[in-house]
Amino acid sequence: MKWREVIGPTSGAKEKAAETLRGMFGAVVDGLSENGFHGSDSPQSAEREIHFFFKDFDMTRMIPPTVKQQEKDIVFILGGPGSGKGTQCAKLSEEFKLAHLSTGDLLRAEVAKGTEEGKAAAGFMKEGKLVPLELVIRLLGQAIESTDKRAVLVDGFPRSVEQVIKFESMVRPCKVAVFFECSEQVMLKRIMKRASETPPAQRRPDDNPEVASKRFRTFKIESEPAIALLKAAGRLVTVSSEADVSSVHKQLRQLFLI
Ligand code: AP5
Repeated sequence: MKWREVIGPTSGAKEKAAETLRGMFGAVVDGLSENGFHGSDSPQSAEREIHFFFKDFDMTRMIPPTVKQQEKDIVFILGGPGSGKGTQCAKLSEEFKLAHLSTGDLLRAEVAKGTEEGKAAAGFMKEGKLVPLELVIRLLGQAIESTDKRAVLVDGFPRSVEQVIKFESMVRPCKVAVFFECSEQVMLKRIMKRASETPPAQRRPDDNPEVASKRFRTFKIESEPAIALLKAAGRLVTVSSEADVSSVHKQLRQLFLI
């Protein structure tokens, strides 16, 4: 509906709503603003109209903004590599019966399947770069759709301003975003400890000092602006994740008791 408010009414937009797109750019024909912009009046109409013009378009590649998804509260869990997102989400999801969806895990599962998209994703992950948005949003959308929990912890997403905007316009705004503040020194120590405790065959290809420093760089350049955006929107809670696992959990669980 927001898009329809932005484009304005189909007739008389110049007089009735001069600040809308039709008001500003629509031509006036016989006293009416020419309908040079189109906005569907519901997700169902949009789907029907897309099929009318693009018969072969695969709608399953989009997140269907269904009622089922809209009923779920979305909580973004953000933080640098090794800040403890996965560890804390596992504890919170168990205690509060929440769904825990990690974009890193979803991507690793796609890599393990050996699909073309999985192979491409592996290349980005080995370089500590962000995997292209389309795949990440599709995997996340499907996972959200298939959970029946009332709220979802989205671990490791969004990692860019583009991801915030795309997800929140296609699914819904997050209820809250929790940012795990942690120094690079502590994060690197944890990543290297995990690598040293994991047998080489199961070790993550990005858990080494070289790729870790690229992951830190990507976090700074791409993810910090997304965190700043959520903070400016008044939806960010920052929690230090430098203490031991149970102290961090004690602090975090207070947010979920409210
Ligand atoms: P992802 O798998 O999400 O990796 P990450 O963000 O780098 O985070 P980690 O999983 O390493 O750390 P974590 O914060 O979950 O900490 P954890 O609890 O595991 O992403 C991997 C890659 O996938 C990305 O680089 C990117 O290429 C791609 N990707 C993912 N999401 C994407 C997206 N949205 N868009 C595009 N691309 C995306 O803890 C780490 C270690 O520390 C563990 O051993 C743990 O036991 C230990 N630990 C945890 N907490 C504590 C504590 N408090 N004290 C001591 N040790 C602790």
